[in-house]
Amino acid sequence: MAITPHGGTLVNRLLSGDALEAARKKAAQLPSITVDPYTAFDIDGIAKGLFSPLTGFMGEAETHSVLDTMHLRPGIPWTIPILLAVHAEEAEPLEIGSEVAIHDDLGDVVAILHLSEKFALDHAELAEKVYLTNDDAHPGVKYTMALGNVFLAGELDVLKTRAIEFEEYNLTPAQTRAAFEEKGWNRVVAFQTRNPIHRAHEYLTKCALEICDGLLIHPLMGTTKSDDIPGTVRMKCYTALIDNYYPKDHVMLSLMPVNMRYAGPKEAIMHSIIRKNYGCTHFIVGRDHAGVGNYYGTYDAQRIFEDFDADEIGITPLFFEHAFYSKRTQSMASPKTCPGTSEDHVFLSGTKVREMLKNGEMPPPEFTRPEVAKILIKWAQENGE
Ligand code: ADX
Repeated sequence: MAITPHGGTLVNRLLSGDALEAARKKAAQLPSITVDPYTAFDIDGIAKGLFSPLTGFMGEAETHSVLDTMHLRPGIPWTIPILLAVHAEEAEPLEIGSEVAIHDDLGDVVAILHLSEKFALDHAELAEKVYLTNDDAHPGVKYTMALGNVFLAGELDVLKTRAIEFEEYNLTPAQTRAAFEEKGWNRVVAFQTRNPIHRAHEYLTKCALEICDGLLIHPLMGTTKSDDIPGTVRMKCYTALIDNYYPKDHVMLSLMPVNMRYAGPKEAIMHSIIRKNYGCTHFIVGRDHAGVGNYYGTYDAQRIFEDFDADEIGITPLFFEHAFYSKRTQSMASPKTCPGTSEDHVFLSGTKVREMLKNGEMPPPEFTRPEVAKILIKWAQENGE
């Protein structure tokens, strides 16, 4: 039996057929606003049910409930508000109860908003409660502080999905659910990543696969910060890795068109809920999941699960300690599975890896597979990274 979507029903806000045609005509007559790529990805997430049970942008009461209780309502966890912010002059002519056409950054009409509320939020409080810091060097805080002052809430009817590269890997929750059923996978573990898959990541996925029927490698492909490795390069790394090192009949690659928030623990919960909507039963949470800089403790993103009842989250988190290659045991391991001190571990900082790639040096095979390293070296050298 497939896992139940968050809140009970898989949402679909995408219009089709006559309703789509009618909406297109209507949208041309409506007052309109234009959103940035970040918000356009959020609209896409609502449309396809990634964010079930959300059917639109959150209102004031729901936002405060999420910020203060980590629940949309009792029994339905939610940790990061999904919001639509505009500047006061854009909001001013829009009337509550009316419809608003939403254009994306590419100039296309992507949705009609049924405007139910206009409200204000304290940006600093919003940032602090989501990111647990108000330091504007944090990319999420910086983004939040620059948002417009008026938040618009309401249900969405969506006219167009957001096209991204590698569209053949951009399966919707309904499509992954159907794929799992066809493959006969009952226990499916999802792996979130915004990086190329190195040996430590590979180790987690394979440990998890030992106790599941299938592994969904599910890289995040919404907006990311500018110094993260671009999605197009990562996709090449993922396919090269899977072709060489994974069993095809137990692994599936699909991407997740969701923005990276870098919100650490709160994002770990959000990532789990989204993967539940995609039909996964298990979700990998390793060290500093969705973290950035030193804002979160190494295992904060695991501890936050203690704040919820297991049945309200629904999907089972699989926690992993910091993994590395151990020279003594000559295998991938963690402090839980091998003896010795950190001198025994092959450890390379992100900065060190970047430097090696830029200089055309292969990182050791204990750190990354050579097929992946070659792709990254080519990219780093072509882009002067
Ligand atoms: S994240 O922002 O998507 O979390 P990343 O792609 O680096 O970043 O991590 C993907 C997943 O692997 C996360 O669950 C993270 O906690 C885990 N992870 C990354 N590196 C390690 C490691 N060396 N040991 C254990 N877990 C790790």
